[in-house]
Amino acid sequence: MIRIAAVGDLHAGSDTADVLRDQLAEVSQKADVLLIAGDLTKSGRPQEARVLARELGHVSVPVVAVLGNHDHHADRPEEIASLLRDVGVAVLEGQSIKVDTAGGSVGVAGVKGFGGGFAGASGAEFGEPEMKAFIRHTKERSEALGSALASLQTDVRVALMHYAPIRETLQGEPPEIFPFLGSYLLAEAVDRSGADLVIHGHAHRGTEHGVTPGGVNVRNVAQTVIRQAYAVYGFETATRRREPATSGAPTARAVAPTRTNTDR
Ligand SMILES: [Fe+2]
Ligand SMILES: [Fe+2]
Repeated sequence: MIRIAAVGDLHAGSDTADVLRDQLAEVSQKADVLLIAGDLTKSGRPQEARVLARELGHVSVPVVAVLGNHDHHADRPEEIASLLRDVGVAVLEGQSIKVDTAGGSVGVAGVKGFGGGFAGASGAEFGEPEMKAFIRHTKERSEALGSALASLQTDVRVALMHYAPIRETLQGEPPEIFPFLGSYLLAEAVDRSGADLVIHGHAHRGTEHGVTPGGVNVRNVAQTVIRQAYAVYGFETATRRREPATSGAPTARAVAPTRTNTDR
């Protein structure tokens, strides 16, 4: 069993130090890896990231994170990422990382993502430069996600992002703001490159469960959605015989993620 803990939207600040310490106390016993789906801080200030870094420094399993829109607010995202990297957190933006666990290998491809909307109600790269830049950013981040996913040769592949790839996990949010909560381009990238699980946050009033058009399970792990410190998803990996022609291919196939901690 591979156990993946995930949470988003921790929104660390001076008032969260004790809260986060308590919340993260047992994650190293309950999971093999911890994924954080962006909005690490309240307003993107380094002193807020220092609060989170102090708490994550006590976590002994690998921690992988992406930044969210809040982490960009003070225009210092590199400092936020650097403070977290200093305590061993892998902060991804268009990259991937492989984590070996007792149950098999986990590959994580991460991007912040961006908005733009969903099929039938989405923005286009047309008109004013500002509008073109908006959608172009989403396209570029989605393509970076696709490339990072495609590079993974692991038993389980996870796409980690802040913005949502589908509208299903936004249910509960006002539909008028869906274009600011995510983009279908992210789901297209996932479906093109393949993954076993998508983790995102950002939609605080959304829904935990969804699936991409291509059939990849999506989980919105915004802390206000999962209503606990983190969710843990378990993967049983079914071993299959390695064919000579596919050397380098994963030797195990992940089956659907099972939520292993449902206590609220
Ligand atoms: Fe948030
Ligand atoms: Fe956000």
